[in-house]
Amino acid sequence: MSVQAIVFDAYGTLFDVYSIGALAERLFPGKGAAVAELWRDKQIEYTRLRTLSNTYKPFWEVTQDALVFTCRKLGLELTLDAQTRIMGQYARLEAFPENLAVLKSLKGKGLKLAILSNGNPEMLEAAVQAAGMSDLFTQVLSVHTVEKFKTAPEAYQLGPDTLGVSAKDTLFVSSNCWDVCGAAWFGYRTFWVNRSNAPLEELGITPHAQGRTLNDLALYVT
Ligand code: LAC
Repeated sequence: MSVQAIVFDAYGTLFDVYSIGALAERLFPGKGAAVAELWRDKQIEYTRLRTLSNTYKPFWEVTQDALVFTCRKLGLELTLDAQTRIMGQYARLEAFPENLAVLKSLKGKGLKLAILSNGNPEMLEAAVQAAGMSDLFTQVLSVHTVEKFKTAPEAYQLGPDTLGVSAKDTLFVSSNCWDVCGAAWFGYRTFWVNRSNAPLEELGITPHAQGRTLNDLALYVT
């Protein structure tokens, strides 16, 4: 399989959002996993509502709003200190262990690599730097430019517009099946990093390829 560029989703694909569960467990014993899961779902739900209703605000704020709601829903008291600690952890999410080596090898093959994420530029910049990935990406694209979250076509359009490579010659890589579906609807080739062995979404899309980690992506791209 040959492509000219690879565009990566950020959260859950390059950066481990579920690692937040350990801190949440310390702050809310017995509820860490529930907090992490509901928080993620609400965060994405809010991005969709805000895009549908043209009420964009940056992903950092949406993420904070989703955390406040999650704690309210689960009957947990979110002190200012706890909120600051959890959001601080979100700003320093760890990359998945195999990522750096795989990204380096893909770049070594002469491919253009980019991130295309719902995250606002400051969040992405901090995460990319912390993971030592600054030199690996041609572009770190944020939907902040178009003020619409994925799966709006305007968000996916940032890839071809910025990289100068058509969507059909670009591989879009995400761990989120809904994001893979959005990218495929837009016209990208798609690779699903199905890290959690999740079922395929019932949206009429089959990813062009899939694997469990970025190592499987490295084997797919020749
Ligand atoms: C992102 C979220 C969707 O990085 O994972 O865009």
